[in-house]
Amino acid sequence: MRPAHGATLRTHLAARTSFFDEQVLAALAEGIEQVVILGAGYDDRALRFSAPAVRYFEVDQPATQRDKRRRLVRIGADLGRVTLVPADFRTDDTAAALAAAGHDAETPSLFICEGLLIYLDEDTSLRLLVALRSRSSATSRLAASLATHPDGESSDAVVASANRIRRNSRSEPWLTILPAAAQLELLERAGWRAADTSDHVRGMLLVTARAS
Ligand SMILES: C[S@@+](CC[C@H](N)C(=O)[O-])C[C@H]1O[C@@H](n2cnc3c(N)ncnc32)[C@H](O)[C@@H]1O
Repeated sequence: MRPAHGATLRTHLAARTSFFDEQVLAALAEGIEQVVILGAGYDDRALRFSAPAVRYFEVDQPATQRDKRRRLVRIGADLGRVTLVPADFRTDDTAAALAAAGHDAETPSLFICEGLLIYLDEDTSLRLLVALRSRSSATSRLAASLATHPDGESSDAVVASANRIRRNSRSEPWLTILPAAAQLELLERAGWRAADTSDHVRGMLLVTARAS
């Protein structure tokens, strides 16, 4: 997730979207009935991959959730199987918010962190990942995109240089870009063991993980 423009950005987003689409389709094919999308933004998988037995929980900042709800109502979307959960991962208890929204920790879930963790500092990421682990049954899984840089570079310098050329860096700064091993170690500390990784796109590690 280094600075990406034009064709690079398109390649990056296409790889990311296909990866997460495949994760959702594979989970549904295996009978997983809860999909929890963290930092969902305007993700439309709850509509594209709607299925009678499957519940979607989308978690994002309260203002984003209010705006998304307005837009979904305006287009007449069926909100019967999707719950918009307002939470700020920096300050709110995400595990409690999911429980209050009706998420069942005993039922297997697919947790998705797409394009999110780069916006959180390491402590917030760790707290969020621990919260997700606490809502996981033995066969739940996590799919995440992680921003990486080559070993030997300073992570602070990489983040600063990326933010210097981003348009939204004041309002939405990138905060965490790490070597791949450090990203996987962060997952481990939160109780997630990587089951599969792909780093075909420079600067982006796509990971599936299981509760360790
Ligand atoms: C780049 S967008 C990604 C949206 C979507 N996952 C996608 O891939 O299209 C990052 C999302 O993370 C959310 N986000 C960032 N920081 C957050 C925080 N502290 N608490 C909750 N959501 C946050 C933003 O509101 C935004 O919707």
